Amino acid sequence: MIMATPDKTNRRTFISKTVKGGLAISIGISAAAPLLKACAAPKNISSSAFKTGFEQQPLPYKYDALENVIDAMTMEIHYSKHAAAYAKNVKDAATAEGVDMNKPLEDVLANISKYSAKMRNNGGGHYNHEMFWQCMKPRSADNKPTGTLISAIEKQFTSFDNFKKQFGDAGKNRFGSGWAWLYIDAAKNLKIGSTPNQDNPLMDISEIKGFPLLALDVWEHAYYLKYQNKRADYVDNWWQVVNWDHVQQRLDKMG
Ligand SMILES: [Fe+2]
Repeated sequence: MIMATPDKTNRRTFISKTVKGGLAISIGISAAAPLLKACAAPKNISSSAFKTGFEQQPLPYKYDALENVIDAMTMEIHYSKHAAAYAKNVKDAATAEGVDMNKPLEDVLANISKYSAKMRNNGGGHYNHEMFWQCMKPRSADNKPTGTLISAIEKQFTSFDNFKKQFGDAGKNRFGSGWAWLYIDAAKNLKIGSTPNQDNPLMDISEIKGFPLLALDVWEHAYYLKYQNKRADYVDNWWQVVNWDHVQQRLDKMG
């Protein structure tokens, strides 16, 4: 078992360089800017950043911590086999392709078109899973965001229920394997989207681009032991274990 560790906000710090082409993501969302006014507006996003290293970090809770939503065996296989393989393979690719692993993985993702398919698949796989673990916590009743995050969500999507419906549909309707995302785009709007395979919104080749706030893994390996073919049930249940504090931190760290 992997024991609980504190939320490692220092593991990933947001940097402007993560999004190619001068995507100037700064604090807030256009529609919600007044709500976020109390946060310090950044002059330089790199000063307050989430960064992701190439090493797999400890799971921030035990394998069975998400039971009734995600079973312990799924978590153990997912973390110790699937995600561990992405971590190993991205390091192998980085070594082969001359990447300085002292620099954040985000630098590579922002320019992923210049690297191999192995780097794209495993770099994305490693980043996405490192983020995914942080986006979850033990289930709680009436689990929902608070503060500036809920205000921003309600402004952008009219209600939390509408947001959940749209985000859930992004995951349920992703053909094959992939991810659903809540992210902030270049115009500083909250957006919902999905990516295939292990792509993510930080990648220069992605159809959706921005800084990710919330990630949902809809690969079958994330749910099949408990839910079999019923991806929709997994997605609907998943809301009980979303770590909204982490999502709020990602929003706040942009400031
Ligand atoms: Fe996964």
